[in-house]
Amino acid sequence: MNKAVFYYLTLFILLISCKSSQKNIGVSAGVNPFHYSITKKVIAENGAVVSAHPLASKVGLEILKQGGNAIDAVIATQLALAVVYPNAGNIGGGGFMVARLNSGETIALDYREMAPAKANRDMYLEAGGNANTDKSQLGHLSSGVPGTVAGLFASHKYARLPFEKLIQPAIELAEKGYAISVTEAKALNAIKDDLVQYNSITPVFIKPADWKKGDTLIQKELANTLKRIKEKGQPGFYEGETARLIVEEMIRGNGIISYDDLKNYKAKFRTPHSFDYKNYLIIGMPMPSSGGLLLNQMMKMIENRNIAAMGFHSTEAVQLMTEVQRRAFADRAEYMGDADFYKVPVSMLTNDIYLQERMKSYNPDKATPSSTIKPGMLLRAESEETTHLSVIDKEGNAVAVTTTLNNSYGSRTVVGGAGFFMNDEMDDFSIKPGVPNLYGAVGGEANAIMPGKRMLSSMTPTIVLQDNKPYIVLGTPGGTTIPTQVFQTLVNILEFNMSTEDAVYKPKFHHQWLPDEIMYEKGFPPTVKASLEKMGYTFGKERTGIGRTEIIKVLPGGKFEAVADIRGDDSAEGW
Ligand code: DON
Repeated sequence: MNKAVFYYLTLFILLISCKSSQKNIGVSAGVNPFHYSITKKVIAENGAVVSAHPLASKVGLEILKQGGNAIDAVIATQLALAVVYPNAGNIGGGGFMVARLNSGETIALDYREMAPAKANRDMYLEAGGNANTDKSQLGHLSSGVPGTVAGLFASHKYARLPFEKLIQPAIELAEKGYAISVTEAKALNAIKDDLVQYNSITPVFIKPADWKKGDTLIQKELANTLKRIKEKGQPGFYEGETARLIVEEMIRGNGIISYDDLKNYKAKFRTPHSFDYKNYLIIGMPMPSSGGLLLNQMMKMIENRNIAAMGFHSTEAVQLMTEVQRRAFADRAEYMGDADFYKVPVSMLTNDIYLQERMKSYNPDKATPSSTIKPGMLLRAESEETTHLSVIDKEGNAVAVTTTLNNSYGSRTVVGGAGFFMNDEMDDFSIKPGVPNLYGAVGGEANAIMPGKRMLSSMTPTIVLQDNKPYIVLGTPGGTTIPTQVFQTLVNILEFNMSTEDAVYKPKFHHQWLPDEIMYEKGFPPTVKASLEKMGYTFGKERTGIGRTEIIKVLPGGKFEAVADIRGDDSAEGW
């Protein structure tokens, strides 16, 4: 080869390799981890993805464009969220998927965390009997056995593309990094002290100087964990090297998750909790989430009261909705828990006569104090930082997934060498009767800790059908406010006829029986607050943001309207 040919050949190869190293992430040209923007609303014909992070939504969209169905997109989006949204996206946590396939089949998949075999009901009680919520909320002992990876593989049977393809974008995002937003920088800076306290091996999330917008977050250890999952499938997480790293992390911090706990974890297909509301069929998550049942109770308690005539944010409507929230949450505290361990009287709690009975004490002129609202008397004994994504495809498959580490960044413990946050989901159990959890919720026997049991959730991934076709796909994070927000968003659309954006963006409120107060969002009308106070209601502290709802509505004519919440970096994509 003469010198000139050699020179040009080398230059050519260099140019090619340079170009390919700048190539956008993973599946295609649509995802650039260093230049991306947030889209709050799209109208699309072929499919749509809405999630808490623009890069994750873009990954899902690319999968749809490359021939994947909504389940493929949901799997790829969750894996991407595990990298770009470590607050709540996860492989160290768990979640729920509700789907309606174009075949008419409905699916509820439970991949909620599970109490380890060594767990017991008094594990968070100190010598004097006091509950130690630090231990149930932070560090190694607060983690349940993670369910997400098992859930992803269980849902894959409905997908079309190989798992290796769906996980590849996440691997590349972890390996090459992505530019963090100002919100992410602030969130990481805010947990620095906890990260130092609850990790003996320094995770990549700690850096000497503060994080700032545009910094690149590279997660090599997480990339390696994802590669093990890509190569070995589910055992790439629950067995072998990853299991070893999890168990060794547990030992370093007095956690109790064992090899057997990991190996024995199973995602479970359940019968969805479905109910009619007027002309709609609402499909939700059954136990161990209280979401579907609470939504059912609340919707049924307003169904015949002509709330549409009262009007959005009228004192009457807010009062009625507050009172049904109060009653549903009183039942949650007493009767709801993992139905594999505790008999949850679902049909009685949703019985029309029972619900009418519950509303007998409702007085439109004044507040019903929670002290007088006990859990309902059953008619007869009967033989119990999160993130949401909604996806729809042109074939008519609709999927709602809510997944969580519980608190933002979970237990704040990162598995040393494996690069992912573990959940602090054990706090969703009732660690002692009457002791409020992170979200102020109380419980008792139904939700007591037992080995292998799944802690009660409020997550409410929901699909509404109209004329037997998907009409609305929605859900949100927000702890106990989740069911009451899904409730409000649905009432806003189905009863108040509001636009999808208004239904999501307008200020929300929340009552959960105990504490006996209305929690409300900035912008809630002060005049309504004042008139409710006169009727005997107490208001808690004003909150800057309640939840982050991701919603897709099917418009007349069949186009998809995807709306991402304005309360975060949430982003909608479609084509
Ligand atoms: O499962 C539950 O109900 C809670 N662990 C959800 C936590 C949550 O939504 C946190 N996000 N704000």
